[in-house]
Amino acid sequence: MNYRTTKSGLKFSELGLGCMNLPLDYQESKEILKEALSSEISYFDTADLYNKGANEELLGKFFKENGHREDIMIGSKVGNEFFQHSDEVKWNPSREHILNSVKDSLHRLGTDYMDLYMLHGGMIEDNKEETIEAFNILKQDGLIRAYGISSIRPNVIRHYLAHSDMDVIMMQFNLIDNRPEMLLDEISARDVKILARGPVMKGLLTEKYDSVADRKFEEGVFDYSQDELKEILGKIDAPLTVSTMNYLLSQPVASIVGGASSVDQLKANVAAYQQVDYQTHDRALFHDLSYEEHL
Ligand SMILES: NC(=O)c1ccc[n+]([C@@H]2O[C@H](COP(=O)([O-])OP(=O)(O)OC[C@H]3O[C@@H](n4cnc5c(N)ncnc54)[C@H](OP(=O)(O)O)[C@@H]3O)[C@@H](O)[C@H]2O)c1
Repeated sequence: MNYRTTKSGLKFSELGLGCMNLPLDYQESKEILKEALSSEISYFDTADLYNKGANEELLGKFFKENGHREDIMIGSKVGNEFFQHSDEVKWNPSREHILNSVKDSLHRLGTDYMDLYMLHGGMIEDNKEETIEAFNILKQDGLIRAYGISSIRPNVIRHYLAHSDMDVIMMQFNLIDNRPEMLLDEISARDVKILARGPVMKGLLTEKYDSVADRKFEEGVFDYSQDELKEILGKIDAPLTVSTMNYLLSQPVASIVGGASSVDQLKANVAAYQQVDYQTHDRALFHDLSYEEHL
């Protein structure tokens, strides 16, 4: 496994694990997490909102049992107020909410610091100065090592690039969703790195693309029809997951944060990572997309 370091010194494994889709059953999830550790994956991505805190609790339990806290990095997210007795979710990026929520997340994760804390979305109308102030306080107090945002809104991203000292931006990024390309120069100019979520586009950029396209992309995606997707993906000789990983790792990406709902999926993704050469990819076969809203 190779590693990439961000400006605050966070050392990301080039392949991370997105924990959002881990099975609810602890024993099943434990097998996936054990497989990740044995593959030298050291970045684990979660959020307070995932299963209303239960995803953070699951990670906390696993790392308590496996005693790897100092060898791994945990990133969580904040900004959504959720309630145990209703499904209502209220957007709340206020200073007070962030300063309070971090304590709940740390408790659920069973740790006294978080490596990375991200704003889980955000709108241009938010009081962004308050949000940035809260993250800076947490960093100064040692409760978090670095902060970032998870956003696909160019106007929000540009504000945080200009006015904060964030380390990373999490964005969906892969051969098909190549919209982040329009922001790469601005992101690099601020020495910020990307956490690429959705690297296999829900399974479309894997050898199972045909059945995934049938099951999940009946209506196509972006400006691709299902037929066009299958036609392009079918033309590619190299393993699709290796191609999307080569594309991502030739960008200012700190970690590819893929999800896996079984040990076999994780093994397939790790095997693809082990074949990367950091350059050979099929980007030229795909459309040039760009964000069209929230500019
Ligand atoms: N706004 C945000 O901040 C945000 C939003 C989304 C995700 N995230 C983070 O990013 C992580 C990854 O996102 P994602 O889950 O959308 O990404 P993804 O890696 O594109 O999709 C994961 C899903 O793809 C399928 N898959 C993965 N590997 C496969 C393989 N080798 N063969 C066939 N299918 C495979 C599985 O679907 P099935 O389970 O259906 O088989 C798996 O659950 C999340 O876990 C979360 O931590 C953050």
